[in-house]
Amino acid sequence: MRRHLSLTCAALLLLALPAVAAVQSPNHEATTDLTQDVLVEGLESGKISCTEARQLGLLVFSTPFNTLDGLGDGPFDIWEWQDWEDGHLGPIGFGHRPTLQGNGVFLRVNGLDSQSCNECHSIVRQSTLPPELGLGGVGGVAQNAIIQPSMIDVADSWDDRVHYVPNHVPDLPMDIDGVADYNGRFSNPPFLYGGGGVELLAKEMTYDLQNLVALAKDTTTPAGAVIPLETHGVNFGYIVSQGGGSVEIHNQGINEDLVVRPFGRKGENFSMRDFDRGAMQFHFGIQPEELFGHADEDGDGVSDEVTIAEMSLLHIFDVTNPRPYQQHLNFSAAHGEQIFQQAGCANCHRPELKTVERSVPLSYPEIADQPFANVYYTVDLIRAGFRPDRHGSGVVVPLYADLKRHYMGPGLEETFERAGEIPQGHFTTARLWGIADTAPYLHDGRATTLNQAILMHGGEAQSARDFYANLSSQDQSDLIDFLKTLRTPRRPNEELLPIHF
Ligand code: HEC
Ligand code: HEC
Repeated sequence: MRRHLSLTCAALLLLALPAVAAVQSPNHEATTDLTQDVLVEGLESGKISCTEARQLGLLVFSTPFNTLDGLGDGPFDIWEWQDWEDGHLGPIGFGHRPTLQGNGVFLRVNGLDSQSCNECHSIVRQSTLPPELGLGGVGGVAQNAIIQPSMIDVADSWDDRVHYVPNHVPDLPMDIDGVADYNGRFSNPPFLYGGGGVELLAKEMTYDLQNLVALAKDTTTPAGAVIPLETHGVNFGYIVSQGGGSVEIHNQGINEDLVVRPFGRKGENFSMRDFDRGAMQFHFGIQPEELFGHADEDGDGVSDEVTIAEMSLLHIFDVTNPRPYQQHLNFSAAHGEQIFQQAGCANCHRPELKTVERSVPLSYPEIADQPFANVYYTVDLIRAGFRPDRHGSGVVVPLYADLKRHYMGPGLEETFERAGEIPQGHFTTARLWGIADTAPYLHDGRATTLNQAILMHGGEAQSARDFYANLSSQDQSDLIDFLKTLRTPRRPNEELLPIHF
């Protein structure tokens, strides 16, 4: 075991060289031989440093997977596609998806859309010419994910080839009205920067909320007692104790399980690894060992398509991405900051939240409502550029968000057929750190300027939006000047390149 370990890092890149006998090799051979046990032991003993783990994680993030790695969904299997509620066929899960014109690998309109993570997360700064490219950034609209549609009426026509049942949900008016009707999601890639701070906050909040539920269920808590679901200064509703261990949960901006899920634009994932498991399958048809064991479930001739250790390395890379920063405020930006507060923007876009701990715990296996179970490694967030909290034991996370979901009004509602538990028009508060550099804006990139992004707010943000709309143009531009001080990190992850062992 030890010998294997000392070989591990040095040999990893050598292993990436094509095997002599094979015509071609998988692309991610550099990390496939590492097991979770060896990784954990290496991290514990210091034989694998955090930087080395980040570099290996970066390899997983940037490797263009090929079909020998398991890219693709295996043979199309119609039986995998029949479990929609009304019995008709539709794109439901991942695995066995059809490919566009039968090309065998790519679909593009429901994942199977790329070979590597950085194909979409690759723009550090859109505000310079030329734009600055780098690892872990945002994507333009050409990199948007097109999620689970079964119908796109591209020509805005009543066309027999588009099958549509009236009164279906969503009820798409199939008129010639300038709306290309569409029943999927269209989503613009956010960046990974500062993700470790967000994940630690979410985990600490979940931990607190779970404890509040336990308190409400405690037999010593009198029936009728009302317990606010308050953590880190954010309110998620309240619980009423019913006595005898039963409770009534009035959750706000969070699922009833009271697990904080800040990742994904609709707030669906509790950790970056949780997101990555879906991303691997959705974008690449790569099936993580941690979900499928050693089975070749998609039948493409490759098993263990991405190992547990590789997902751990990817997670370490995710949470060590540097945090965005704020530039010095000039006079107008300082005034804009005051307006940001007065308008009520900061009610959702909370300038900073503070953690209790300094290190983010990484777990395997992960348990959504037990964020501190099964921890195999912790990452000190100071190394991702977070500032220690001078008044506490944790770090300051200047994210400009509250990690809650909000209803954003009819204008931003999607027409997603499989709305599931998160209603249309509900999104997790966009984190505004880095916003100066990350156009286009909003969940699908429909706002090409900050001004438009603000004016498109509705629903719970209607009054803040109206406050902004009624400002003098000088005050509006001061507010925009303030937002333009929120910058993505300088040269993120470049210290990891070139990779040497
Ligand atoms: C085709 C483009 C595309 C590819 C490829 C892609 N992503 Fe993404 N990524 C997105 C989009 C779009 C979102 C927002 C998804 C949503 O709406 O929930 C996202 C969101 C994320 C998030 C959540 C970020 C946040 O702050 O909410 C993480 C983490 C992430 N991606 C990691 C990855 C990893 C790791 C890979 C490779 C396995 C990957 N992505 C591949 C487009 C892509
Ligand atoms: C009720 C909560 C709420 C309030 C109040 C609010 N926002 Fe937002 N904001 C959101 C949510 C949620 C999103 C994400 C919407 C989406 O993805 O379509 C968002 C998105 C944004 C974006 C685009 C971010 C991106 O990365 O695409 C900007 C800019 C923004 N808000 C600025 C403001 C400003 C300025 C104000 C005050 C005038 C404000 N917001 C008030 C919840 C709010």
